[in-house]
Amino acid sequence: MHIVKIKGGKTLSGEIVVSGAKNSIVGLMPAAVLCDEDVNIYNVPHLSDVDNLIDILEYLNVGVESKEDYMKIIPTNLCNKPIHSEFSKKLRASYYFMGALLGKYGHVEISFPGGCVIGARPIDLHLKGFKALGATITENGDTMIIDADELIGTNIYLDFASVGATINLMLAAVKAKGKTVIENAAKEPEIVNIATFLNSMGANISGAGTNKIKIEGVEYLSSCFHEVIPDRIEAGTFIIMGAALGDHLKVSNLIPEHVYSLTEKLREMGVPLEIGPDYVIVSKPEKYNPVDVQTLVYPGFVTDHQQLIASLMVLANGTSSIEETIYENRFQNLYELSKMGARIKVEGKKAYIYGPTKLTGTTVMATDLRAGAGLVIAGLMATGETEIQNADYILRGYENIVEKLSNIGAELELI
Ligand code: EPZ
Repeated sequence: MHIVKIKGGKTLSGEIVVSGAKNSIVGLMPAAVLCDEDVNIYNVPHLSDVDNLIDILEYLNVGVESKEDYMKIIPTNLCNKPIHSEFSKKLRASYYFMGALLGKYGHVEISFPGGCVIGARPIDLHLKGFKALGATITENGDTMIIDADELIGTNIYLDFASVGATINLMLAAVKAKGKTVIENAAKEPEIVNIATFLNSMGANISGAGTNKIKIEGVEYLSSCFHEVIPDRIEAGTFIIMGAALGDHLKVSNLIPEHVYSLTEKLREMGVPLEIGPDYVIVSKPEKYNPVDVQTLVYPGFVTDHQQLIASLMVLANGTSSIEETIYENRFQNLYELSKMGARIKVEGKKAYIYGPTKLTGTTVMATDLRAGAGLVIAGLMATGETEIQNADYILRGYENIVEKLSNIGAELELI
């Protein structure tokens, strides 16, 4: 496992560019197998999650040709084989192959682990939707075999506006017979990015980005060109770093609307922000106001941002709070933060952070991707040196993170 070592206290200035969205590309690559011809995707980020998905595609005899941020996927000779856990345990998003392979071939066999550290992360809503479309599901151990002689469009109501279930059911419905309506659908921007990709192949999807998505089944999907949207979670990470240590730090290549709930919360904290059409310029303020955050489905405050703003809250004059309503256990990073001197109390779904506190560098552990990112922010803020273990988590979601942060004045290394 890699380690990140950070010497804290450096001012961050200049420009940092946001890459393509992890949570979009991990859906786009499995979705590509639905196509009856080759597909071309631009602005692909270089992440370990992408590498793991390339392994699965190549295992399925799908061609993948990458050059810088361009990726060509050739699904025409796909061989539909069981996807075993040595592949799928590397990233949960491998479950998008369920919707894609079921949608194209009426059959998929995949095994994958249960939850991860932030929660149980069941897939009951995905499976309920597949059954509604006419599929039968046989489980043995952690292997799922999903079959459908024919997928018939139908109305599916999601008990929870699950991002993964919305995307997976969209994939399964694209070639189903007739019309499918997904009610109480998730509205995250990545869903729109994937729907646009499918429509550019010739699918017939409307309403992506709203809580009601309609999909008219089609027979054939043709070649297309598509671009991954900027990563709003990476963008939020860099904006928060600027809020902590920035001197007119410019965070470029982002969509302001996608980080609106964060920038509004930072404004409430007293952070000066200049918001342009595709960038944010941010500096650290003299002082920070304490704030209360409640995570919600999009466009509410993003759960992936709460672990990041938690590090900033230690600077606020007073008590800030976070209520995590999406996951049942997404406060692991706070225990690590308290090793650096943060004063925190966790009570069930709520965490209280008391400030202002000066963090001191020490050895901490990344427990998941965004927890690791939150600890990078804390390490940049702390006096002295911080060593983050299990840093491979961070590499899953942040392209060239050491190079990008060094270019804006941070002093860190990856070992
Ligand atoms: C996506 O996960 C993201 N991952 C997560 O980002 C993000 O935190 C999450 O959406 C919420 O925004 C990817 O896009 C690859 P959900 P997903 O289905 O699709 C429960 C990151 O850091 N649920 O909306 O798994 C589930 O347990 C990652 O990039 C069910 O109960 O999220 C969770 O509590 C972390 N049954 C809640 O819904 C289901 O069938 C949200 O899950 C599905 C989900």
